[in-house]
Amino acid sequence: MENKTWVYDEFKQVGKDYSKQYEVAVYDSSHADFRDVTAENNAIIDKLDVKKDQTIIDFGSGTGAFAIQAASHCEKVIAVDVSEAMLDMAKQKAKKAGVSNIEFHHAGYLSYDHKLKPVDAIISSLSFHHLPDFWKGMALQRIHSMLNPAGKFYLYDVIIEYKNAQKNIEAFIESQAKAGGDFLREDAEEHFSEEFSTFDWVIDGLLQRAGFTILEKENNAGVFGSYLCTKNSTNS
Ligand SMILES: C[S@@+](CC[C@H](N)C(=O)[O-])C[C@H]1O[C@@H](n2cnc3c(N)ncnc32)[C@H](O)[C@@H]1O
Repeated sequence: MENKTWVYDEFKQVGKDYSKQYEVAVYDSSHADFRDVTAENNAIIDKLDVKKDQTIIDFGSGTGAFAIQAASHCEKVIAVDVSEAMLDMAKQKAKKAGVSNIEFHHAGYLSYDHKLKPVDAIISSLSFHHLPDFWKGMALQRIHSMLNPAGKFYLYDVIIEYKNAQKNIEAFIESQAKAGGDFLREDAEEHFSEEFSTFDWVIDGLLQRAGFTILEKENNAGVFGSYLCTKNSTNS
């Protein structure tokens, strides 16, 4: 895919520019205003039933919070991100935490070249919305091919329920402003005006067409969606 001239340039930042040092520097503290990232990651690790001999890929690994937390539960985490600034921050944090079983890759959903054997689990947290929908479909086919037959995929993102979509988006923007003032208000506004979050029914279809079975689907406030999927329906 990476040799074709018509492929989406996933390294080009759209919306929030995570290649910039100043965005990376404030990422963890600004997200702490509206997320309990440690609790989120523990819940994902539990849902994926991560084992000591397993390998996990984290696409859009950002500042490395999930990778660092998951690393003590498994053999290896492969952290993939298109932002070198994010990868640098994640590497520094991993070093400080004494974590050495994370492999970092400057790549993305469409360009990461998985040369190892298929992995046990793949996660994507708040980064899938950086791809337009056609490319989400292409990315899911690639993710599906990187998993072993019993492999699991966990997706968490801003994913919008059809009913009351506008009302829920506006309520979400207001709740972000309450949590983190103008910074989080503008962050949320930019999310919807420039990035590619989509309806849950689109994500349902894309996952199923790529060959996934959706085991669990949740939505919070009509705007935060999570999916636990298996590669094969025989695993459900
Ligand atoms: C909002 S942050 C999410 C970070 C982390 N996963 C979390 O849950 O906090 C989005 C991350 O996705 C990365 N990203 C954007 N497009 C990507 C792509 N096509 N492939 C991989 N990562 C991408 C950005 O560089 C950024 O680090």
